[in-house]
Amino acid sequence: MTELTDIILAQIARSGPITIAEYMTQCLLHPEHGYYTTHQPLGSTGDFVTAPEISQMFGEMLGLCLAQAWMDQGAPEQFTLAELGPGRGTLMADILRATKAVAGFHAAAKIILVEVSPELRTVQEKTLDGYNVQWAGSVTELPEQALYLVANEFFDCLPISQHIRTEHGWQQQMVGANGGALGFILAGLTPTTVFKDADLGTVLELCPSAVALTADVARIIGAHGGAALILDYGDYQPKGDTFQAVHNHEKVDPLKDCGIADLTAHVNFQSLTQAAEAFAQVSGLTAQGILLERLGITARAQSLAAKLQGAALENHITAHRRLTHPAEMGQLFKAIAITPNGAAHPAGFD
Ligand SMILES: C[S@@+](CC[C@H](N)C(=O)[O-])C[C@H]1O[C@@H](n2cnc3c(N)ncnc32)[C@H](O)[C@@H]1O
Repeated sequence: MTELTDIILAQIARSGPITIAEYMTQCLLHPEHGYYTTHQPLGSTGDFVTAPEISQMFGEMLGLCLAQAWMDQGAPEQFTLAELGPGRGTLMADILRATKAVAGFHAAAKIILVEVSPELRTVQEKTLDGYNVQWAGSVTELPEQALYLVANEFFDCLPISQHIRTEHGWQQQMVGANGGALGFILAGLTPTTVFKDADLGTVLELCPSAVALTADVARIIGAHGGAALILDYGDYQPKGDTFQAVHNHEKVDPLKDCGIADLTAHVNFQSLTQAAEAFAQVSGLTAQGILLERLGITARAQSLAAKLQGAALENHITAHRRLTHPAEMGQLFKAIAITPNGAAHPAGFD
């Protein structure tokens, strides 16, 4: 049992069961024992591998997409180039390398990384050595100017609540204690005016912070211009229980060993779209594989392949397949783009 499990058990003994959202926040962001505050989770030696860590091509395609959107909107002379939850900083480094030759883009960009983990901020600083980078703890700190933003595998780690349609009505899934261990329990009834009725056993997941955060981003883009590219695993309306924990590249029990595993849930792109549409326009939901193909990943893959051989070539071919093939990340991962009303959708988006 971890120290954080003891802390959470003591809290539950004192004041009763906690919501899954509260549980996720403690496990991921507890100042001393949280997963993101204490771990370097990414990469083959970490717990999971993200698209930018698989191949430089991912960041290159998104960088050129952002730069094209910037040019399409008249190449504003000052803008924020932001990333939410930048992990090791690899995606931003690839975006910056790919856009070096775009005249005026770097000179106009104020680079801001929105990151809560002090540990990962240190890694990002090293990865982006040589660039003038600032950090923010939240999107509310982003300046009031044109905003070109990317968020990959960020929204899935924001805290969710789960509600289940039982024979009594809608009940919230909570984390309680059972015989000295953490366990799920169903709380009292949620007022039925909140949700539409549904079949018995239906699970509904809500992520209020994702909605609020998307609205903040869309408000800035709607007012000042820009584009936000949001990529993650999920669906327009994800179905069922998607709350999961990953440790050492394996799915594990989310209530065991708090602070050791990454906790996530599938992203509900419909709720993000609706939040953004109050301020800006949103593209259709586009599968990652299709988006990357449209942005030219295969041509780029072929040009890189020409310089490779042996194991490096094999790895490169595998990476291209992992990012784009529908049986790998190509279909599970999806993307939306937010742009000002009336602007063109960024290249590659439906
Ligand atoms: C799964 S990693 C994604 C890393 C990176 N985007 C990539 O594709 O490799 C999630 C990132 O979001 C950060 N993060 C988690 N919760 C956050 C929050 N509430 N605000 C800002 N950053 C957060 C983590 O510290 C980490 O950098």
